[in-house]
Amino acid sequence: MAVTRLVPRHAWPLFAVALAGLLTGLFGYLRADPSPAADRFYLRSAGGAVLFRHVEHQRRGVACARCHHEAPAAAARNCRGCHPAEAGEGSQEIRTLADAYHSCCNGCHLAEAPARFADAAGEPSCHACHLK
Ligand code: HEC
Ligand code: HEC
Ligand code: HEC
Ligand code: HEC
Repeated sequence: MAVTRLVPRHAWPLFAVALAGLLTGLFGYLRADPSPAADRFYLRSAGGAVLFRHVEHQRRGVACARCHHEAPAAAARNCRGCHPAEAGEGSQEIRTLADAYHSCCNGCHLAEAPARFADAAGEPSCHACHLK
């Protein structure tokens, strides 16, 4: 039918290889870490809003566990579910939300993307994240 006429006989091996590649890619994509429920988070704070995007990190191969402590990716949860906005909230000794973000995010950015995230002194550039 249509495919047999569209693909000339001598091109069949090439066509088969291309099709196999496509299927392998699709299978790999479906087997990868589950996608987070939401991609974009507009995190508001006294320091100025921060736009966080999952996809920017996923396509650079950052594992879920680098930010979400939980071992299985499917168990990832919002940081604000545990880290309080103000120090001293909650029953256990736990760092504030802003502290959790700053230590999680800045360490990696300074090590892996200094051109974008470090200022002239090698310190985190606030405006690389805070939109103000
Ligand atoms: C670079 C850090 C980082 C990585 C990597 C990351 N996340 Fe997140 N994730 C966040 C932040 C920040 C939030 C927002 C937290 C908040 O609002 O308290 C979030 C929120 C979530 C939430 C809860 C909100 C929702 O309903 O979507 C889920 C579920 C989630 N992430 C799953 C994942 C999964 C699965 C992966 C791996 C594919 C992943 N995350 C990778 C930082 C990250
Ligand atoms: C289920 C509760 C829970 C959730 C959800 C959670 N944390 Fe934590 N986190 C903790 C506890 C408990 C500690 C240990 C006490 C401390 O150091 O504040 C901790 C410690 C940390 C630390 C310091 C120790 C380390 O592992 O480097 C960072 C950074 C951190 N959390 C970032 C995050 C980020 C970012 C998110 C969201 C993507 C998040 N946490 C979500 C409970 C949680
Ligand atoms: C394990 C490494 C790693 C961690 C942890 C991490 N990032 Fe990133 N992030 C990257 C890399 C790599 C880039 C791409 C930098 C570039 O442009 O070269 C990036 C890019 C970004 C960007 C710019 C791209 C965009 O989304 O527009 C923002 C904003 C950002 N990260 C916010 C965060 C925040 C907020 C956290 C903490 C919740 C975080 N990141 C944690 C590695 C990380
Ligand atoms: C990697 C991205 C990133 C960088 C770089 C960064 N921040 Fe933040 N900052 C955040 C996030 C995310 C929050 C938490 C937003 C929220 O409260 O939901 C935050 C929160 C804050 C807060 C609010 C604290 C509070 O207790 O409410 C202040 C103030 C702040 N940052 C100042 C700074 C300053 C000053 C710098 C530069 C030295 C800086 N930040 C660099 C991501 C970043």
